[in-house]
Amino acid sequence: MTYIDGVLIVNKTYSLPESYAPGGLTSETQSAFNRLQSAAANAGYSLWITSGYRSYYEQQSLYNSYVWRDGAAAADRYSARAGHSEHQTGLAIDVNYAGQAFVGTPESYWLAANCAEYGFIIRYPDGKEGVTGFKYEPWHIRYVGRDLAVKLTNAGLTLEEYFGISSQY
Ligand code: DAL
Ligand code: ZN
Repeated sequence: MTYIDGVLIVNKTYSLPESYAPGGLTSETQSAFNRLQSAAANAGYSLWITSGYRSYYEQQSLYNSYVWRDGAAAADRYSARAGHSEHQTGLAIDVNYAGQAFVGTPESYWLAANCAEYGFIIRYPDGKEGVTGFKYEPWHIRYVGRDLAVKLTNAGLTLEEYFGISSQY
């Protein structure tokens, strides 16, 4: 497992072993999401968790189902291979509709503008597939803590750019 400055890195280059299985969202991630959700509700927006923690094996069957449907080259642009998904860390959450239905919704704009305050980043921003390895996912948030989240968001940087690391199989 790879930590840089205390931040767990999981992408196409850096993977997790099968045995890494926190079993759910970390307590810090869950409580940060609860605060984010309350703030959204106060602003009139509804946010919910559609997918949080996924085990290595759950990710494997999900990825395989996408490969059967779309082929490996297409699937690799939007679904991580087993061991390479942030969902296995317990630090990532898919909010509301994990798909095109979420793109352009008022909730997606509110999330992008406010999630850093609660410690989350939009992990796969638009136009960054070349650095993150994945297509735009406005619904996938990754907990990194408030300081780093605000720094990355204000600078418009991904974890790969900030730490100068790759994301390639
Ligand atoms: N959709 C993201 C990249 C995942 O499968 O973890
Ligand atoms: Zn996700």
